[in-house]
Amino acid sequence: MTAGPDVPGLVADARAAIGAAATTEEIRQVAVAVTGKKSPLAEASRALGSLDAEARRELGRHLHEARAEVEALLEAKRSEIRFDELSAELAASRLDLTEYVPGSVAGPVARGHLHLVSQTRDALEDVFVGMGFDVAEGPEIETDWYNFGALNIPPAHPARGMWDTFYLDLGEPETTLLRTHTSPVQIHLMERAVLDGNLPVHAVMPGRCYRRDTPDARHLAVFHQIEGLVVDRGITFADLAGTIETFTTAYFGPDIHSRLRPAYFPFTEPSAEFEVTCTICRGEGCRTCSQTGWIELGGCGMVDPAVFASVGIDADDWTGFAFGFGIDRCAQMRHQIADMRALIENDIRFLRQF
Ligand code: FA5
Repeated sequence: MTAGPDVPGLVADARAAIGAAATTEEIRQVAVAVTGKKSPLAEASRALGSLDAEARRELGRHLHEARAEVEALLEAKRSEIRFDELSAELAASRLDLTEYVPGSVAGPVARGHLHLVSQTRDALEDVFVGMGFDVAEGPEIETDWYNFGALNIPPAHPARGMWDTFYLDLGEPETTLLRTHTSPVQIHLMERAVLDGNLPVHAVMPGRCYRRDTPDARHLAVFHQIEGLVVDRGITFADLAGTIETFTTAYFGPDIHSRLRPAYFPFTEPSAEFEVTCTICRGEGCRTCSQTGWIELGGCGMVDPAVFASVGIDADDWTGFAFGFGIDRCAQMRHQIADMRALIENDIRFLRQF
């Protein structure tokens, strides 16, 4: 009997080769080398033919067990390699959020600024607060009573025509509308002061107003007014005139003055139109002021006793004055804006100037 192949030696060699493989490609090559047609195992199998039956059976069993062992080693190594390779791949592709710095921008974020009308409202408030006035606000949707009735403008009064507005159907029994002026806030303030026993009143009331006016160089359908109201003892027309003049020079500068011209408002008696020196020609006379040297800003007057009666203030005990003028008109005059519609066109090149 010839010496048979060293089967444990073959397995040991295969085990060493398999153990050394580190990649899928290497294990593929090792598999060919240890189990392929030219492998020592295959060589050993070919030798079976020259053996007698007893020895062939014996060697055949050993070779079969050896091949099974080698296949098992190969499979174990393949899984190990696959696991390592997948782990490496995962580690490489993991999204590490901590590597990313917070979003950066090319430069400082450009901030906007208040619209010219808001800046003008703030500046006007500042002037009046400096003169001792409080600042108050009222609703933009009013009842007929606050916008007209309490202000001594009964239904069908001709003055309603010049303050025509947008009426709302809110299902209320009383007519509701978008206020045409800030004067209804006078009524709210006086009512509250009477209820709280809080007279006197010294307040300005800025806010948005609405009219059925066709927009033009000096009018908008939605615009802003600032109302003023003083109710105290012994208030006279001289207090009103002095307040208007003090405001005018404080806001427009020392060379701009005010004048009052007789006018009519149902809620003041006597009433006046409040005009300031035209800021464009400084009083010389130009096209904007129709050569008069003056521009109308608003209306004013002494609170009509009928208005005091509608809020329950005793007109024998208290007197007062009120005024109301356009905030947009002020901005227009102060910055010499030829056409008021520029204020609502949202042209950033225009707005950026202020
Ligand atoms: C009034 O609205 C009165 N409530 C003012 C008043 C208050 C009088 C208190 C007496 C006592 P008038 O309709 O004239 O009055 O408006 C006053 C100012 O608001 C105008 O001079 C103007 O500056 C501004 N104004 C009026 N309508 C518009 C409009 N459509 N667009 C821009 N500004 C306007």
